[in-house]
Amino acid sequence: MGETVLITGVTGGLGQALAAEFAGHGYDLVLTGRSAGKLEELSMQLTAKYGCRCQTVAVDLTDPTAPQWLFDRTEKAGRPVDVLVNNAGFGDVSAFAASDLQKDRDMIAVNVSTVIALTRLFLPAMLIRGHGGILNIASMAAFEAMPEWAVYAASKAFVLSFTEALYEENRGRGLHFCALCPGPTATGFEHAAAGAAGSKLFAETADAAEVAVFAFRSFTEGKIIAVPGAKNRLEAMCAG
Ligand SMILES: NC(=O)c1ccc[n+]([C@@H]2O[C@H](COP(=O)([O-])OP(=O)(O)OC[C@H]3O[C@@H](n4cnc5c(N)ncnc54)[C@H](OP(=O)(O)O)[C@@H]3O)[C@@H](O)[C@H]2O)c1
Repeated sequence: MGETVLITGVTGGLGQALAAEFAGHGYDLVLTGRSAGKLEELSMQLTAKYGCRCQTVAVDLTDPTAPQWLFDRTEKAGRPVDVLVNNAGFGDVSAFAASDLQKDRDMIAVNVSTVIALTRLFLPAMLIRGHGGILNIASMAAFEAMPEWAVYAASKAFVLSFTEALYEENRGRGLHFCALCPGPTATGFEHAAAGAAGSKLFAETADAAEVAVFAFRSFTEGKIIAVPGAKNRLEAMCAG
């Protein structure tokens, strides 16, 4: 039996590219997102192209019961998850004093609380098996505070710090822990983030498939922090 990767947010640009990248390397997939229709379509495409086995689980990750429900679905399918990719996430652009508090709470639920909960649920069995690991999708926004993206940047700083701590705690136990920190990438992200579309920040974007190739390689090579693109790496170094 091949290894299985669970990827959240595969209905978006980067998630879809990551699913194809893992499938191309022989992984079976557990695909999650909010739209059951889009998940089925992607599952059919990937199965036809790569011959992988796919389980789809439609779930809204703002629901605090979602991570446990998702974990239970994979257990019921008898499918050990070797690699967890916490990819689902979104941002919002607004001066914080005028921000939509419910949206901020939802952002923390998806970008932070879900990452904690899924890690807590899947990590113990990974440690027993002694292989696989967790790839968390952070952002260049993790490296410095961003006015008008205050909650988003803070959520990604959390993801980066959390991933580094997991790596240190579990060093030498056979697992990989990697925080991918992409810069602006051509996906649905800037359109989902109200106020971001057309902003200077997205004038130059990376290709999602190329970022996914870099992410897979960095993860399997055991990188802890993976920043795609030379310009981004320089910026991250200056910020650090
Ligand atoms: N694109 C960039 O410039 C960029 C840069 C740095 C980091 N990132 C990070 O990369 C990751 C992937 O984003 P992307 O660029 O691929 O953007 P995207 O195309 O907008 O995809 C985001 C994914 O997250 C899912 N998601 C959002 N809210 C959800 C919820 N409540 N429940 C379940 N799933 C939810 C979306 O599902 P729906 O289809 O249902 O909305 C979608 O599958 C995110 O964590 C993002 O912060 C992106």
